[in-house]
Amino acid sequence: MTADNRKVIWITGASMGIGAAIARRAAQEGWAVAVSARSRDKLAALEAEHDAIHAYPLDVLDRGENAAVLDRIEADLGPVDIAVLNAGTHADMPAAEFDAAAAARIFDLNLTGLANGIEPVVQRFLARGRGRLALTASVAGYRGLPRAAAYCASKAGVIAMAESLAAEIGPRGVTVQVICPGFVRTPLTDKNEFPMPFLMEPEDAAERVVKGLQGTSFEIAFPRRFVWQLKLLRLLPAALYFRLIRKATGL
Ligand SMILES: NC(=O)c1ccc[n+]([C@@H]2O[C@H](COP(=O)([O-])OP(=O)(O)OC[C@H]3O[C@@H](n4cnc5c(N)ncnc54)[C@H](OP(=O)(O)O)[C@@H]3O)[C@@H](O)[C@H]2O)c1
Repeated sequence: MTADNRKVIWITGASMGIGAAIARRAAQEGWAVAVSARSRDKLAALEAEHDAIHAYPLDVLDRGENAAVLDRIEADLGPVDIAVLNAGTHADMPAAEFDAAAAARIFDLNLTGLANGIEPVVQRFLARGRGRLALTASVAGYRGLPRAAAYCASKAGVIAMAESLAAEIGPRGVTVQVICPGFVRTPLTDKNEFPMPFLMEPEDAAERVVKGLQGTSFEIAFPRRFVWQLKLLRLLPAALYFRLIRKATGL
């Protein structure tokens, strides 16, 4: 909290898309907002929008820099109450064009990049016996979807990582949550050339996230109708799931 008792939130992957929308919504909530990403110009523009938003450029793939940036944020704003580790990426990858280097880039950002942020956050939160850590996964982590083997694997990994941490450190005062969005209109999904069911605007996604960050549910997943459809698919035996998902995706 800041000296005037405002919550302090740190958001990575906040120069655009879902992260930037969460930052704007958190600022409206009256929180002190630290935003990180690589694009200094985009962060500066976001900072200029609202007095409560403060830019801390960071490449999450630089392990040591995550701790250094967190130190700077806490020196400026006070102890971080909520960390939303959100930087992530996706690349369409049909199986026939499976590219191990592209898969490694997805794993690096979506898993190692997250781990680089988790390390300093968890150390500080455990030492204080309080804090809230939210990891951005995706509904694509529920089951393997066509053309997204590496992305789905990475997001299933994020969900598992959040569950492991929540089970272990929840009783020590640290709330761990996982954010599972469906399709949200962002620069990332603007590249998609396939129909995106239940596509949401980033402001609506941010509304759900900020509400979820004030609640007790482990999972912050939206939009609800899409989430439940995908959760039902998760219950199906593999052969039936393959039949349905091939039909749904026109394979
Ligand atoms: N949009 C969707 O439909 C959707 C659905 C489910 C889950 N998600 C997840 O939500 C998260 C945000 O997605 P989005 O759609 O908002 O994506 P986006 O528009 O592409 O934004 C990604 C953000 O991550 C930052 N980033 C990328 N590499 C980075 C690095 N090495 N270090 C620090 N920041 C980095 C980008 O900023 P810089 O380039 O400036 O670094 C940007 O701010 C991702 O984890 C994504 O997988 C998105």
